[in-house]
Amino acid sequence: MKPESDTYKSLAAKFHMTNDTTSSGSVDDTDKKFDSIAVVDFGAQYAQLIARRVREAYVYSLIVPWQISAEQIAKYNPKGIILSGGPKSVWADPAPLLDKDIYELGIPILGICYGAQLIATQLGGIVARTDSGEYGRTSVEFDSDSTFFTPISTDIPSPAPLGKRYILKVWMSHSDAIVISPPGFDVTASTPKAPVVAMEDVKRSIYGVQFHPEVYHTDHGQQLLEGFLFDICKCSPSWTPAALVDTLVHSIRDQVGDQTAICALSGGVDSAVAAVLTHRAIGDRLKCVFVDTGLMREQEPIQVEKVFEELLNIPLIKVDAKDRFFDALSLCEDPEAKRKVIGECFIRVFEEVAKELQNADKAGKDEIGFLVQGTLYPDVIESGTDTASTIKSHHNVGGLPEDMGFSLVEPLRDLFKDEVRGVGAQLGIPEAIIWRQPFPGPGLAVRIVGEVTPSRVEMVRRADAILEQEIKAAGLYEKLWQSFAILLCLKSVGIMGDERTYEYPVVIRAVTSEDAMTADWARLPFKLLERVSTRIVNEVLGVNRVVLDITSKPPATIEWE
Ligand code: XMP
Repeated sequence: MKPESDTYKSLAAKFHMTNDTTSSGSVDDTDKKFDSIAVVDFGAQYAQLIARRVREAYVYSLIVPWQISAEQIAKYNPKGIILSGGPKSVWADPAPLLDKDIYELGIPILGICYGAQLIATQLGGIVARTDSGEYGRTSVEFDSDSTFFTPISTDIPSPAPLGKRYILKVWMSHSDAIVISPPGFDVTASTPKAPVVAMEDVKRSIYGVQFHPEVYHTDHGQQLLEGFLFDICKCSPSWTPAALVDTLVHSIRDQVGDQTAICALSGGVDSAVAAVLTHRAIGDRLKCVFVDTGLMREQEPIQVEKVFEELLNIPLIKVDAKDRFFDALSLCEDPEAKRKVIGECFIRVFEEVAKELQNADKAGKDEIGFLVQGTLYPDVIESGTDTASTIKSHHNVGGLPEDMGFSLVEPLRDLFKDEVRGVGAQLGIPEAIIWRQPFPGPGLAVRIVGEVTPSRVEMVRRADAILEQEIKAAGLYEKLWQSFAILLCLKSVGIMGDERTYEYPVVIRAVTSEDAMTADWARLPFKLLERVSTRIVNEVLGVNRVVLDITSKPPATIEWE
């Protein structure tokens, strides 16, 4: 999670950010309206990270598969192309290759890690397999006269310049190494182990770096990427929340026309932003349905009602389905079975509401033709590329099946989570919703390891609320990807006020992450843990023990079920 940094703010000022919102646009032709960068995906998660870093500089990025042809990529009219890293070696058989005609398009190209090695092999240089690669933070010597390093050459005063060579700490992760750069390229950085860490052919505007400027461990990495975007590709940073809101609203209006749409709110940021955008586009022809499953976080149903009805003036169709969900979940212990039961139950409730709405309007002019969903770009990428690794598919209660007879409106399908938050803020959605940590669709049901009952839900909900309060008080809430409580349905012995107790334990899970695909357990301060533990045991009836989960993902997942 990364809030907007000062770099971007100052950049915005520097480039007099264009908020030209007069023309109508559509999600599909976003790449034509905004300057864009095509990120060619050579696998793993590198491409997504690069695409996000580009967007953080307010430049639109799109991820394309490595099999793309020169002709196809040219159709997107990108101002620059970035070749991502990837898990393969250029010596692999077969190795993913780039259509060589792409090098001839005259569009600036930056190859990162595997991307750089590919440039070297395809344009006549040599990449060697080395026995000992370089992994982790490494010092590289770079040439201050190089075009690629220009943005930082004045920012690095120490250690003392070695002639024109400066030292930069970067993140490396390679076993192959470029040993001879292709004809026409200057070598602009090296390490004692790797003679060609960076190279450039300014004439053809092709650049390659064997380190990863997109990761936080590389000093000045974002600055280098922004140098490529603004100085080399001449992009304008126009992909701003304000411009986005306008484009998206126009696009929804174009799509829905004078018909009616329906939307299910989950309490989370994605469905809230999708709903508010759609409401802005089509007004009360959007019907917002809020199903109280009884499995939400403390205060969540009240908060959703308050924000939508009082603050944003968007009417809600509220359905209290708590009993229905609890009945359906009784005796259900298996995590996947829980997800299935909840998903089905949600669909039934939603179908009933939709039917009632259709029947209420006999003339049929309100016939609901569209379903609004908060699908995000990572979901689209995951299902659309064959090189990206597959995330486990989630049964989100907000994610309704397409066979319900509606056309889908997915206004956020080009956006990353951070961008959705930016759009949400632009739309006036309160921070409490925008910055609420992600929450699984099946709700607290998958945070009870065992059968779900109303009293167990109450226990885990209260423990979760205490943890949230304390994490917020410590100023850590927005720094963590997620922090929550899990109730284990086993009992252990304790002692309270001279009395023996035999009750449930609560697990504290807190993780840092960029995208939930990998996560590290958060090193929470002991004082904070102590307060949380004391409060949970004292305040949550039925809990007599608190334990801490210190496992990263992988091997564990973030949720316990
Ligand atoms: P895991 O547990 O797979 O979770 O590491 C990764 C992220 O996804 C969330 N999650 C879900 N979200 N429906 C959802 O909408 C689900 O069934 C679901 N399961 C996990 C989880 O909270 C984390 O952010």
